[in-house]
Amino acid sequence: MSVTVLVGSQWGDEGKGKIVDILSEKYKIVARYQGGANAGHTVIIGDKKYVLHLIPSGILRDDVICVIGNGVVIDPTALLEEIELLEKNGIKVEGRLFISHNAHLIMPYHKLLDQIIESGDTKIGTTGRGIGPCYIDKFARKGIRIVDLLDRVELEKKIRLNLKEKNDLLKKVYEHEGLDVDMIVKEYLEFDRTIDKYIKDVPSFLNHAIAEGKSVLLEGAQGTLLDVDHGTYPFVTSSSPTSGGACTGTGIPPTKIDSVVGIVKAYTTRVGNGPFPTELLDEEGEKLRTIGAEFGATTGRPRRCGWYDAFLVAYSQMVNGITSVAITKLDVLSSFEKIKVCVAYELNGKRIKYFPTAVEQLSAVKPVYEVLDGWNEDISNCLSYDQLPAKTKEYLNFIAKHSGIKIDIISVGPKRGQTFYIDR
Ligand code: GDP
Ligand code: IMO
Ligand code: MG
Repeated sequence: MSVTVLVGSQWGDEGKGKIVDILSEKYKIVARYQGGANAGHTVIIGDKKYVLHLIPSGILRDDVICVIGNGVVIDPTALLEEIELLEKNGIKVEGRLFISHNAHLIMPYHKLLDQIIESGDTKIGTTGRGIGPCYIDKFARKGIRIVDLLDRVELEKKIRLNLKEKNDLLKKVYEHEGLDVDMIVKEYLEFDRTIDKYIKDVPSFLNHAIAEGKSVLLEGAQGTLLDVDHGTYPFVTSSSPTSGGACTGTGIPPTKIDSVVGIVKAYTTRVGNGPFPTELLDEEGEKLRTIGAEFGATTGRPRRCGWYDAFLVAYSQMVNGITSVAITKLDVLSSFEKIKVCVAYELNGKRIKYFPTAVEQLSAVKPVYEVLDGWNEDISNCLSYDQLPAKTKEYLNFIAKHSGIKIDIISVGPKRGQTFYIDR
């Protein structure tokens, strides 16, 4: 039985939700390890579309247990809405979802501060879900955690203490009238009633399950280039989507991880601000956005689109230790006569050896492209690797070689059935 980490290999929205749903057929437990309701993971089953923000996509298979690890920041309102929506659709959540004691709670002041900071001079283009401010409080050791919901007296004390500081900040720095303390205390004291039943000692639960031979899939949100350490800082999220984050975000030690699956989109997208070397600002970019329906699952914002960047994916392969890859949205390229792939970067006229995460450098690089022939035929009904046109196979071999990846899964449409494994 195996413990597998699943990571986004680019800037998020690679189709992680769909592939988690496919893979979870083979896993007993699926656990989210970082991020929060900034994520939007779309899964289409039959004629139903689910967009999950906090709950692992494994919840859609009724024999899978789902876990939200300590590395996740939880907006209780968003969580309860998601649970309600799933239960309305006949998906049982109670008894199948467990949340770590140590996960931090997103508070109303986190969301407000996120929005106020974004309206200032430094625009990251965040989702406005309070993610950054919540992780700031976590690392400043001021955060309020899921475990605090279990002690109403302490919870109230912590909320009042935090709000004293936050209201000072809002009033003195941001000229905001401040938040109503009593209302927030009342709202959060209520959450113990609705959330208590999901709370669990997650590290013990997961490690016992692994010791019993149960398979665990660790679901990352966002993507490698949005990682606070390894991404295009400061245009990143505030957590660790890379595979290392799976250990700190769940309490599973690195020695228990067997494999890392990278989810790689057949081209590149990014939402929010920051450098994007292969971005297409012309009609080809528009074509990718239209055919790929590249609009944010959480905010509805149009995603920036560009060619596949093998230099970037090779970096992602390295920092995550990716052992196998699922290529998604290959069908979106079907009507392009010529397809470009970035194989290297030039900086000041010279090819560089290392992926530059410093924004100043990454903004200055020139992508070096190789041009491949398109395949010009619909592949969305292909059911196996053998059925793919020769030119599609050439594209796959080319990107695999230049990114240093081994492709095991191919996705040619948003539905469950539009997925196949490559038999070797
Ligand atoms: P995630 O955040 O990585 O889970 O990805 P999102 O759900 O935000 O975005 C991926 C989008 O592409 C979703 O709308 C999926 O339904 C869709 N999708 C996933 N795989 C494929 C595919 O192979 N082809 C096409 N056309 N769409 C796909
Ligand atoms: P999934 O899991 C794509 C981006 C935001 C912004 C930056 C910081 O669906 O792939 P934040 O709200 O996290 O402080 O925003 O990160 N971002 C995502 N982009 N997919 C996501 O999640 C994202 N989550 C955050 O657009 O640029
Ligand atoms: Mg998404």
